[in-house]
Amino acid sequence: MIIDPQALINLVEIDLKKIKNMKELNKVKVKYLGKKSFLSKEFFNLRNFVLKEKIKYSAILNQLKLDIQSKISVYKKKIIFFSLEKKINKEKIDISLSGRRVENGAMHPITIIINNIERFFLNLGFKSITGPEIEDEYHNFSALNISHNHPSRSNKDTFWFDINRLLRTQTSSMQIRIMEHEKPPIKIIVPGKVYRNDYDVTHTPMFHQIEGLIVDKNVSFSNLKWIIQELLSIFFGKHVQTRFRTSYFPFTTPSAEIDIMGKDNQWIEVLGCGMVHPKVLSNVNINYKEYKGCAFGLGVERIAMLYYGIPDLRYFFENDLNFLKQFK
Ligand code: DAH
Repeated sequence: MIIDPQALINLVEIDLKKIKNMKELNKVKVKYLGKKSFLSKEFFNLRNFVLKEKIKYSAILNQLKLDIQSKISVYKKKIIFFSLEKKINKEKIDISLSGRRVENGAMHPITIIINNIERFFLNLGFKSITGPEIEDEYHNFSALNISHNHPSRSNKDTFWFDINRLLRTQTSSMQIRIMEHEKPPIKIIVPGKVYRNDYDVTHTPMFHQIEGLIVDKNVSFSNLKWIIQELLSIFFGKHVQTRFRTSYFPFTTPSAEIDIMGKDNQWIEVLGCGMVHPKVLSNVNINYKEYKGCAFGLGVERIAMLYYGIPDLRYFFENDLNFLKQFK
């Protein structure tokens, strides 16, 4: 054997000390472990040795190979470490810079009011459901006993897509949808968006309603009265002054509108209600002699305006952050 293992290791060490990057490291690797390396030639020459010598010499060569490999891997780790350190140093963080503030989002005032009303009804055992905003003529009008020549059907009030489809003008359409599918007893509320062709201080083309419906055997107007009085007292205090005013809706009889006394001593209408009309119950195959229904439809924006003291309905939909931030 014409090799001094330690001398070869020393040579490897000298070369490795000079390297600066991965490319140079690979060159050293090829030089000492590659096909044309001294070591590979020695492995090739093993075939010329007698068996005993072959065993002895191959053990030495294998050990040598392992030693060189481990030296190289030590340097490889060093290079990786240094290049990482260099990168980190380059990407210094300036801790004196002021931070970027994370803005917290907040609920829209309409959502806050809807959530509070929903909580009240869920506690009374109502289910809260939603329904389609694109409705058909039958559910929005006919099934609710609204005659074919009723003014609310006109283009001036309703956004029609075609002769049958429209943007629902009231959540009352969901009274029909729910009664079509469920048998009494029914206790539901339906919060949602409704659409009408209106625009001024107290009207926007889209606004929110919450519909309420109870259908059961012994339902009377007094149930309705108690529920509404309780609900309004949550927002406006136990001593809120309310006024039930006789009114007319095609889908209820008797019907009433409910006003509450505003801060400026003016009555403000907040909802419509009544006993579900027998014709409406018949339209959904509920026997009106056996079952009674009471229903109400509440304007969410109206409640929000009164509750927060907001004079113009349009503020709710302008997405002015200064306005919205007040409701955190
Ligand atoms: N849908 C009516 C409206 O938009 C409000 C309403 C009145 C709903 C009486 C009802 C009701 O459920 O019984 O003006």
